[in-house]
Amino acid sequence: MLQQVKEQQNIFEEIYSKDNAARFSFNVTNDPLIRYLRDRRLQKALDFIKANSNGEDIYQWKVLVVCGGVGGEGIFFIRKGFHDVTVSDISENSLQICRELEPKIKTVVLNGEDTGLPENAYDLVIVQDGLHHLPRPTTGFTEMLRTARKGVVVIEPYYGTVGNLIGTEWEVHGDSTNYVYRWNRMMVSQAVKSYLLKEFKAIKVFRLWDHNVVVRKLSQKFPGSVQLPIAKFVYALLTPFGFLGNMMVAVVLKE
Ligand SMILES: C[S@@+](CC[C@H](N)C(=O)[O-])C[C@H]1O[C@@H](n2cnc3c(N)ncnc32)[C@H](O)[C@@H]1O
Repeated sequence: MLQQVKEQQNIFEEIYSKDNAARFSFNVTNDPLIRYLRDRRLQKALDFIKANSNGEDIYQWKVLVVCGGVGGEGIFFIRKGFHDVTVSDISENSLQICRELEPKIKTVVLNGEDTGLPENAYDLVIVQDGLHHLPRPTTGFTEMLRTARKGVVVIEPYYGTVGNLIGTEWEVHGDSTNYVYRWNRMMVSQAVKSYLLKEFKAIKVFRLWDHNVVVRKLSQKFPGSVQLPIAKFVYALLTPFGFLGNMMVAVVLKE
């Protein structure tokens, strides 16, 4: 294991320590505003997969989340009706919290760069805000393509002028630093084609705005009943400017 991976593991074991577990309960909240903000990007990916599934029952798919932390993405898939959902992370403490938040989720400690899993071990492999914690993000992406039978979802920062100006370049947690690697359509497409050659069905990259902290704070200044409509309205206003957006929802369908 690379030193940088070890450092990430050490720092995330602290971040996800028992004393901090309560901080992550928002992942199972039923508050419609928080649910919308938490699930918006995953929903976009799921809508695309459903629209391109040719009538297949995707809810039978085996799902693996990499760099999944306390399981926010896994909880989304369970709540949507998927039965076989595994959350993986380099931190065992995160997975302990995940199991407490949602006992239906299976968990396994995996290094996202080198999972040791067989090819096509899961149907759908997804990551959200995780590849940029790896020293070799494209290796992590290729590992997802290798271990997914049907599809891959990558939700990571998009490379663009505005995102580069206002976004974080270096994330520093204690003794561990990671570079915030940003993607664009061309990078995704080239990485997929290099590895899968012509053996893929679709590569779709959505570019969009994502400013959940700002949108949440703004929405929460209003009474509860209008908070969700306000958050949706703000994101609707930003939609025409998605071509400048700071976030990527990429879906690769292999078959
Ligand atoms: C910003 S958190 C995102 C967690 C989750 N996806 C979410 O959005 O709530 C990044 C996660 O990547 C994990 N991580 C860092 N390096 C990793 C590696 N080499 N393999 C697997 N997970 C890793 C960390 O432990 C942490 O849980």
